[in-house]
Amino acid sequence: MSEQEVLVEIRGHVGWIQLHRPKALNALHMGLIKQLANHLEELDGNDDIRCIVLKGDSKAFAAGADIDEMAESSPIDLIRKEFFGDWQRIRNIKKPVIAAVSGYALGGGCELAMCCDMIIASENARFGQPEIKLGVIPGAGGTQRLTRAVGKVKAMEMVLTGSTISADEALKAGLINRVVPVDQLEEETSKLADKIASHPPIAVHLAKQAILKALDVPLEYGLQFEQHLFYLLFASEDQREGMKAFIEKRKPDFSGR
Ligand code: CAA
Repeated sequence: MSEQEVLVEIRGHVGWIQLHRPKALNALHMGLIKQLANHLEELDGNDDIRCIVLKGDSKAFAAGADIDEMAESSPIDLIRKEFFGDWQRIRNIKKPVIAAVSGYALGGGCELAMCCDMIIASENARFGQPEIKLGVIPGAGGTQRLTRAVGKVKAMEMVLTGSTISADEALKAGLINRVVPVDQLEEETSKLADKIASHPPIAVHLAKQAILKALDVPLEYGLQFEQHLFYLLFASEDQREGMKAFIEKRKPDFSGR
C-alpha cells in the first residue's frame, strides 16, 4: 500500500484525513485501515488538534472492506491476521471525529462512518450494508451500530436486503446529522468542526466519553458516570476561564488545561 492512500491536512485546530484510493472507491484493505488508525492516533495525540474530520472523495466515502483481499480467506486466516484489529484503534480515538460522506458509504464504509461521532452527508450519499449479497454479514459493527442508530426494523431491512438508502432517508432514520449540497460538504463540515474546536478540549473529550457511555450502560450508572466527569472538570483551568469569562462578559480564552 502506498502512503498516499490516506492523506492528512491540518487546518487550524482541525485535522482532516482523506481516504484516497479512488480507483477502488476507497475500498478498505487492511493496510489502509492500519494507516488510517495510525494517522487518527497521531492527531489524537497532538495537543493542537481539537477535532478530526474523515472524508473520502465525491464518488465514495468508502465502498466497504476490500472484497478482493478477503475473498479467498479462511476463518483461521482472518483470526490470525486479526482482520478487524485496527478497527478497535479507530473506535478508541478520544477526540471528536466527524465523517464527511459523499457518494457510497457501504459495508465497512458505512461502518467506518458510524464509528465516527457525527456524520454530515452530501445529497449524493448512499448508505448501506450490502454484505448479505456477498454471503456474509457486516463484521465491523454494522449490525450493532446501525441498530442503535436507526432501530431494529430499519436495520433489519437494510442488512437483510442489502439495499442502500439515500442521504435524506438516512437523515430521517437518525443515522446522520444533516444533508448538504455536494459542493458545500467541506464548508459545512468545516463550520461544525471549527465550532467544536473552539470549545475547551478537555470538556469536549469528557462529553464524548459520557455520550458513548450512554450507549453501553444502564441509565443509573450512566448518570453517575456523567456526574463524576462533571465534578472532575472543576479541576481544569478551562472551567475557571469559561465561567470567569461569562461573569466578566468577555470571550473565553481556552488553554486546553
Ligand atoms: N472491494 C474491492 N474493490 C471494490 C469494492 C470493494 N468493496 N468496491 C468497489 N471496488 C472496485 C471495483 O471492483 C472496481 O474496480 P475495477 O475498476 O478494477 O473493476 C472499482 O472499485 C469501481 O467499482 P465499480 O465498477 O463496481 O463501480 P460502480 O459505480 O459500477 O458501482 C458500487 C459502485 C455499487 C459501490 C459497487 O462497486 C459495489 O457494489 N461495491 C461493493 C460494495 C460492497 O459489497 N461492500 C461491502 C464489502 S464487505 C464489507 O465491508 C465487510 C465488513 O463488514 C467490513
